[in-house]
Amino acid sequence: MKSIERILLENKAWSKEKLMDDADFFSRLEKLQKPDFLWIGCSDSRVPANEVTNTEPGEMFVHRNIANMVVHTDLNLLSVLQYAVEVLEVKHIIVCGHYGCGGVRAALGNQSLGIINKWLRNIKDVYHNHREEIDVLADMDAKTDRLVELNVKEQVMNLAKTSIIQKAWQEDNRPHIHGWVYGLGDGILKPIFNMEPKTPIDPIYLYDNL
Ligand code: CO
Repeated sequence: MKSIERILLENKAWSKEKLMDDADFFSRLEKLQKPDFLWIGCSDSRVPANEVTNTEPGEMFVHRNIANMVVHTDLNLLSVLQYAVEVLEVKHIIVCGHYGCGGVRAALGNQSLGIINKWLRNIKDVYHNHREEIDVLADMDAKTDRLVELNVKEQVMNLAKTSIIQKAWQEDNRPHIHGWVYGLGDGILKPIFNMEPKTPIDPIYLYDNL
């Protein structure tokens, strides 16, 4: 594990290396941010958005929280979403979960964890809607991993329920929304569920005055 001083030193070395490869690297990025992708991922330190996708600074707008949730009252997520969709005009949104997610595992348990209970409650609701499928699975690892997949699908659908996405789909035929799960054991991203612009959703969630 690196010390805090080490991190600052590594940063200097990284900056120098970037400039050696490309003298305009920072001055170009300083002037313009135009990423094509919004990444909504888990806060887990083992799933860094840029690193697992081999993308550079400037290519991906990133929001991370425990268990990559899209909670419709979360002003932080909604502000990131609105800015990414309406100002940056991203073409793709990726909701990325990961197998072995500690947040999802905790949601399957009954231990009170304080304020996190409120957050995990959203995952418990996903379990509640799919409990027959999850309860028959053999062990906690299998249950967690299936709930990780179902949760990613649910969060993709939650995006489609927002007026922000519905408006962009209607007016600009974007963004495409992708639900992926990352394997901590092999480093591979697995597509689980995706929604193209204008994919029909339950009409109760549709807004007609966007
Ligand atoms: Co996680």
